[in-house]
Amino acid sequence: MRVNIAVIGAQWGDEGKGKIVDLLTRHVSVVARYQGGHNAGHTVNVGDAQFILHLLPSGILHAGVRCVIGNGVVVDPEALFIEIETLSRQGIEVDDRLLISDKAHVILPYHRELEVLAEARRGDRKIGTTSRGIGPSYEDKVARRGIRIADLADGADDGPLAAAIRENVSARNCVVGGTEVDWRAVYAEARSVWERLERWVGDASLFLARSMDEGACVLFEGAQGTMLDIDHGTYPFVTSSNGTVGGICTGLGVGPKAIGGVLGIAKAYTTRVGEGPLPTELHGDVGNQLRESGREYGASTGRPRRCGWYDAVVVRYAVRVNGLDAIAVTKLDVLDALHEIPLCTGYRYRGEVLTEFPSNGTVLAACEPVYETLPGWSSPTAGVRRYEDLPPEAQSYLERIEAVTGVPIAIVSTGADRAETIVVREGLIDRWQADAAMPASVS
Ligand code: GDP
Ligand code: IMO
Ligand code: MG
Repeated sequence: MRVNIAVIGAQWGDEGKGKIVDLLTRHVSVVARYQGGHNAGHTVNVGDAQFILHLLPSGILHAGVRCVIGNGVVVDPEALFIEIETLSRQGIEVDDRLLISDKAHVILPYHRELEVLAEARRGDRKIGTTSRGIGPSYEDKVARRGIRIADLADGADDGPLAAAIRENVSARNCVVGGTEVDWRAVYAEARSVWERLERWVGDASLFLARSMDEGACVLFEGAQGTMLDIDHGTYPFVTSSNGTVGGICTGLGVGPKAIGGVLGIAKAYTTRVGEGPLPTELHGDVGNQLRESGREYGASTGRPRRCGWYDAVVVRYAVRVNGLDAIAVTKLDVLDALHEIPLCTGYRYRGEVLTEFPSNGTVLAACEPVYETLPGWSSPTAGVRRYEDLPPEAQSYLERIEAVTGVPIAIVSTGADRAETIVVREGLIDRWQADAAMPASVS
């Protein structure tokens, strides 16, 4: 049976989704992003080359694969052009393989400016956003004053695009003291990007429906992670979209039955960039050691990522919220030098042990992780490609992760490169690997 797979972050983002999407792309003909924007940074290493995808689906690296940016994504046209040019310099041509939903919302320069101000106003309650204008663009969408990609086609100086930009810029001028932005300049810029964008714009939902009818297999690529989801994450320290599975239907205009398999991605430990709770966070030397050996610095902003132990409460929660069929455990090799490895199985709260992730931030802040400690393997797993070649302690660690998380491990990643991978559950992946037909065209 041929099914479409979703790849979703099971922690706070940066789990290695890019690597796993790239790995699975050879089994599909379409890869679709359904939410987020260029706050995402998905790294794919192929031999000596490294690619970092922000807005474009990671599938773009595979010749012939069609890539969709859905209506649920917010698009900064300038960032998109830079990404396309960077890829072109690296030998990857987007050509006509890209389709951007005409309903996707646009990020304009005032969104970035408003975000920086909002963060400054929050002071020490700041979210630690990526300052890409993501939140303010989604705010405009929900407030029904947003500008969609298709709106950029409107060239009439007294038309709806000009009116919307005039209103939004005048609202910006009220909020931001000291400087005045001329709406005409913003309008002229928005119009000029349309000329470059137009060739890629179309009805993404229709394209996906037709492609699936023709037998194409689709990979739905999530950005961020379950704990950064606007509804299910550690609110308010979240992003402004639904990276969880429901975002696929709303963010692409596909029905739930189009999703045939859901693969969660989790690191063998935990990281988070930005502010907000991280129950298993390590503040001392061990945290620094994880950060350095895992090269835990943001792919988008370069910020150091906060590091902690694997938190099974979090990943179990991701299993429930997304209906994960399996997980891929990444960065196992980063734990190679450790003598022992704590694994969080619950939270102690007022003398009780919680095994489900609490919704309430005050409760969460009072929780202490409950750990069980497993022996480390103190030998290299980096680059190992067969499960049986892993040291027995590493196998035990993975088996324990599986048991406490309550879902099978389908893939183990032992290095950043495509090849440094162990496919553990052939059966599950096989189900997702049937040959798929190529869709006839993008538009
Ligand atoms: P994403 O946002 O989920 O795609 O993840 P990022 O690309 O932001 O961060 C994951 C980082 O870990 C990237 O630099 C990857 O190249 C790297 N990576 C992925 N899998 C592995 C692995 O198994 N081992 C090691 N050492 N690095 C990995
Ligand atoms: P990928 O797809 C990790 C975090 C930011 C901040 C919060 C809100 O690479 O996993 P935003 O700019 O989205 O309003 O910031 O979300 N964040 C990410 N953290 N990986 C990401 O994407 C992220 N995208 C946003 O650091 O805490
Ligand atoms: Mg990332």
